[in-house]
Amino acid sequence: METLKAVPGTYDIFPEDARTWDRLRRIVAHAMRAYAYGRVETPHMESAELFARGVGADTDIVQKEMYVFEDRGGRRLALRPEGTAGVVRAYIEARLDKQRPYSKLWYWGPMFRAERPQKGRYRQFWQFGVEAIGIAGPTVDAEQIALAMFIAGKLQLQNLVLRLSSIGDGNCRPAYRERLVSYLQRVQAKLCDPCRRRVGSNPMRVLDCKEAACRAATADAPLVIDYLCDPCREHLDGVRSALDRFGVDYVLDGRIVRGLDYYRRTAFELESGKLGAQNSIVGGGRYDGLVAALGGPDLPGVGWAAGVERFLLAAGSVAQDPTLDAFVAGFPETRGAAAELAQRWRHSGLRVEIDYLDRSLKAQLKEAARQGARFAVVVGPDEWSQGQVTLRDLHAGSQETVTPDEAHSRVSQT
Ligand code: HAM
Repeated sequence: METLKAVPGTYDIFPEDARTWDRLRRIVAHAMRAYAYGRVETPHMESAELFARGVGADTDIVQKEMYVFEDRGGRRLALRPEGTAGVVRAYIEARLDKQRPYSKLWYWGPMFRAERPQKGRYRQFWQFGVEAIGIAGPTVDAEQIALAMFIAGKLQLQNLVLRLSSIGDGNCRPAYRERLVSYLQRVQAKLCDPCRRRVGSNPMRVLDCKEAACRAATADAPLVIDYLCDPCREHLDGVRSALDRFGVDYVLDGRIVRGLDYYRRTAFELESGKLGAQNSIVGGGRYDGLVAALGGPDLPGVGWAAGVERFLLAAGSVAQDPTLDAFVAGFPETRGAAAELAQRWRHSGLRVEIDYLDRSLKAQLKEAARQGARFAVVVGPDEWSQGQVTLRDLHAGSQETVTPDEAHSRVSQT
């Protein structure tokens, strides 16, 4: 019969990878606790309109990449392409603004974008991210960036570049946009086809085009960071001086253009030199105005999201805990006793495996080593009848005959 395959751009996670994932997840959860973020979990599907209004109807994400479908009740739904719009929707719906002056929330979960799959780019991918809603000052922007760097540091990521910019706000951006459009109109003939269309719809996106022709044509284009109004300039200065105080290095890069429309002021990306074309591992910025645009109170917001797969690709090998504390090996006469001993040890919190395939002792010990067990406990018939087992230290290569209780305390203490 024909075998069925996973959807292109999706993949399965097996135990070896799951262990690496769990380790990253623990590091992330620990860092979030340290920075006083509370976890939020929002649905993987939302109304399609949320993203049109939140992320922007003209963005590639909404126009080309969103999985949109009609449910049985005729509602237009979308698999979430990102987390921010859903978190803000939840924040407004639960009236969190009435309960506390600001909220600091973090999340971890799958996102969906119909992009062309390649290394580091998937159609179902995972993000962890933070959102701080209700804080206007620049310290929290810098703190969030430091938090991303802290997590990257825990994984010992190297060759990182943090690019920081400000993309202005409703005050200064319209005048800048006009200036940019008139520049782009002058060089329009040199731009690629999609960029020629973007001049009218989303001119800032042209600055982000990877085509060499567009790069050359926009080399002298005006950058918004040079046309900020005073409040936006002050905010950027505030973020920079807080980053300096926190010891976070960055490059000021006025060409940063984020692919989502909600950003105001701070915008940043963290790139890894270890990845190829998909080198952005964290992206984020400030989105003052989004809460109001989604029908809530006029509150500021700032956040970022990181790609789990890209983080792990950039990390290479993440140190893993040993898989098993002990493998309990039995003989035909002692298999029941071995299974019972394993149960007791498991319930005491140890990670224990047994042999299910009636294999020889030699094959069981090979399996124990393959599974990365720290110890093997051999339940030999003669020893067992005298209330003893053989405990083998698979790292040191030594062994001793002890009672099951002594073996348990040795394994527990290691
Ligand atoms: P984003 O830049 O679209 O921002 O995505 C953030 C990160 O998600 C990227 O830096 C990348 O690591 C990862 N990512 C994006 N698309 C893919 C993909 N197709 N495959 C694998 N990884 C991917 C956002 O999503 C915003 N919601 C971030 C934010 C939060 N801004 C404010 N708050």
